[in-house]
Amino acid sequence: MCGIIGYIGPNDATPYLIEGLKRMEYRGYDSAGVAVFDGEAIETRRAAGKIAKLEAALAIDPADGFVGIGHTRWATHGPPTERNAHPHLSADGTIAVVHNGIIENSGTLKAALQELGYEFRSDTDTEVLAHLIQELFEGSLEEAVINALRKVEGTYGMAVVSSRDPGKIVAARKGSPLLIGIGEGENFLASDPSAILAHTRQVVYLNDGDVAVIERDRYKVLDVDAMPQPRDVDRISWDLAAIERGGFAHFMLKEIFEQPTTVENAMRGRLILEDGTAKLGGINLSHEQLLNIDNVIITACGTSWHSALIGEMMIEELARIPVEVEYASEFRYKNPIVTERTLCIVISQSGETADTLAAMREAKRRGARTLGFVNVVGSTIAREDDGGVYLHAGPEIGVASTKAFTSQVVALALFTLKLARKRELSVTRGREIAQALHELPAKVQQVLDTAAKIEEIAEEFKRASNFLYLGRGYNFPGALEGALKLKEISYIHAEGYPAAEMKHGPIALIDEMMPVVFIAPHDAVFDKVVSNIHEVKARKGKTIVITSRDEPALKGLVDYEIRIPETVDMLMPILAAVPLQLLAYYIAVKRGSNVDQPRNLAKSVTVE
Ligand code: G6P
Repeated sequence: MCGIIGYIGPNDATPYLIEGLKRMEYRGYDSAGVAVFDGEAIETRRAAGKIAKLEAALAIDPADGFVGIGHTRWATHGPPTERNAHPHLSADGTIAVVHNGIIENSGTLKAALQELGYEFRSDTDTEVLAHLIQELFEGSLEEAVINALRKVEGTYGMAVVSSRDPGKIVAARKGSPLLIGIGEGENFLASDPSAILAHTRQVVYLNDGDVAVIERDRYKVLDVDAMPQPRDVDRISWDLAAIERGGFAHFMLKEIFEQPTTVENAMRGRLILEDGTAKLGGINLSHEQLLNIDNVIITACGTSWHSALIGEMMIEELARIPVEVEYASEFRYKNPIVTERTLCIVISQSGETADTLAAMREAKRRGARTLGFVNVVGSTIAREDDGGVYLHAGPEIGVASTKAFTSQVVALALFTLKLARKRELSVTRGREIAQALHELPAKVQQVLDTAAKIEEIAEEFKRASNFLYLGRGYNFPGALEGALKLKEISYIHAEGYPAAEMKHGPIALIDEMMPVVFIAPHDAVFDKVVSNIHEVKARKGKTIVITSRDEPALKGLVDYEIRIPETVDMLMPILAAVPLQLLAYYIAVKRGSNVDQPRNLAKSVTVE
């Protein structure tokens, strides 16, 4: 998704801008550009496609200067062309703007500016900002930006430079993350900490409504009335090396193989084996508040929505509280039943997904308490929720989520234990689950040790055009997640279904060309799943079966077997996720896909 970088200091800005943009490549983008003030005028260079193309353009026609802004764009308004790439210049060329988010009243503003004689050169909503700031400019860039923002409806993370008020970058945030990086004799602006981590760890996170003025050796944060706002300086503890690939061919593979550690990290210091419960410091819910929850709503998008479905089953089974799972994008436009005794859990790897954030705000507005299950520390959801559980999975760079998913399920299991032990769950059962959690990292490693076998299976099916994933109970959301992983990175059409629901539709698709992945560990519904495997075999489908024992009942039904260790039913989706991630990964690599940055997808979707 779009990324913003800014530099002001004693050095040439362009190398910092390019480096920052490259650090944000993982977020997904389709064009890029920079604007630099060279002492006389603002120079822009832009290119459709990868940052390498922008670098090539700069090599032919360099742009040097001590202040600059850069952007990676993920198209929303208008196709990903050079014309639509940011920065956008004002009509007189004195103001350059980069912008993340959407200006909702851009149509009205554009018409008004056209009346005044402004000609538009792109299809973007952002260009409106550039002309509007020019129109309102009276000598101070921050004043012009503040006055422009008064007329703007929508969301933005934006950065502006001007040749008429040089020596500063003006930034503003509403609904799209931005932070100031504080250096020595130089300062930075970025939408993502990874963009500036090589230069500074001291940052100021901007809040919605903030306007920042960043100069070479000072900065200030203002509100929309230009009143100065105090803001804390935070220190980023993430290691840049942690963001590198660490010897793996792709970030996704590295992240899959990190899971023994990340699963462990998600429960480090939280599991209380002897009491069969968990300690979660950040949830900010008293004993009474935990007892007084009438219902739970879990809302999320994508992979995080799949972990929500698993959380629903856990909480209902063990804590006996009714749970509803909602797509965040749907929840925000419904008239949901929320009371002060509703707990709304939002799950998000990035903590920035626009729909999830809006759903959380809506739940809050209606009086619910909100808990964020978030990976990125300091992200917007993490800062706005009432309490939360960090996933501690470390940066996830691969667009297709892997380690964040397993950490989400672990975090949900811990929360369920805490909630359930306060209610009906016996200490014996609590201890059994806590012990199973404790043993999980080693079992995840056992699954990873079978990677070579999964790669062989991938070789067999790399040319398939369709895949079906089936599971029941706790493994039905796992089937959805397996199908999502495959389609995201290999572009093979894949669907996940509850195994028994297959006979109500998807069974029509089954023939000798159709691979069907069954998640069939030895659990409460194993015998039922065996019947479904029979139904597929009877129609000559190819079966890939993930199971946990040498099962006589599976004899003659399995074309390819993947063996995983046993655990309690509610944690099985974690062990089953690993071979599904690997299967998708190897198939995608064999098909030559760009695994870490699959087409059309973004890591962090900060637009509605
Ligand atoms: C995007 C990503 C998915 C992710 C979803 C939710 O669509 O491509 O991998 O699951 O957003 O992201 P979140 O950061 O909120 O978990």
